[in-house]
Amino acid sequence: MSQELHIEKGELADRHKTYQSLIPQLKSLIAGERNLIGILANVTAALRTAFGERFFWVGFYIVKGDALLLGPFQGTIACFSIARGRGVCGAAWQRGDTLIVDDVEQFPGHIACSSLSRSEIVVPVKNGHGEVVAVLDIDSTELNAFDAADREGLESICSMLGSLFDVSSIDTINQTK
Ligand code: SME
Repeated sequence: MSQELHIEKGELADRHKTYQSLIPQLKSLIAGERNLIGILANVTAALRTAFGERFFWVGFYIVKGDALLLGPFQGTIACFSIARGRGVCGAAWQRGDTLIVDDVEQFPGHIACSSLSRSEIVVPVKNGHGEVVAVLDIDSTELNAFDAADREGLESICSMLGSLFDVSSIDTINQTK
């Protein structure tokens, strides 16, 4: 496929349409590809392209032992490691379920990597055995920035990524097709 994504820019009202346009293109982009870090990096870039400034920080944290380690992301510098159960990311990992936080200041234990972050969504990525292998973390500078359309679209993206962790890992990023 062409290296350029054709995405309708996602304003609040039509974000569902944006995911509908983005998801098949991502599927096609990653088909047959096994460079896990490259794929995750391109997914963060595609989400930033699609949703722009509304997605202030977009990135993956990858499960390694008892912690989430910083993976590919777009945005400001972020903490390298998050313990299981800590912050929104650690809580989503522990629960194995998507978390939407409308106001991060109201979330006990939120980890403030940037003071600009006001709301966020964290979606677990699960492997073929249903284990959480990573989380997708998206922060916004606006309160109440995420809704059911984001949950549905991002869960769909994360479910297409989960099986990649069965054949690759953060330790083996040099594989090619
Ligand atoms: N928002 C996260 C911390 C990571 S940064 O925001 C990039 C949390 O509380 O889990």
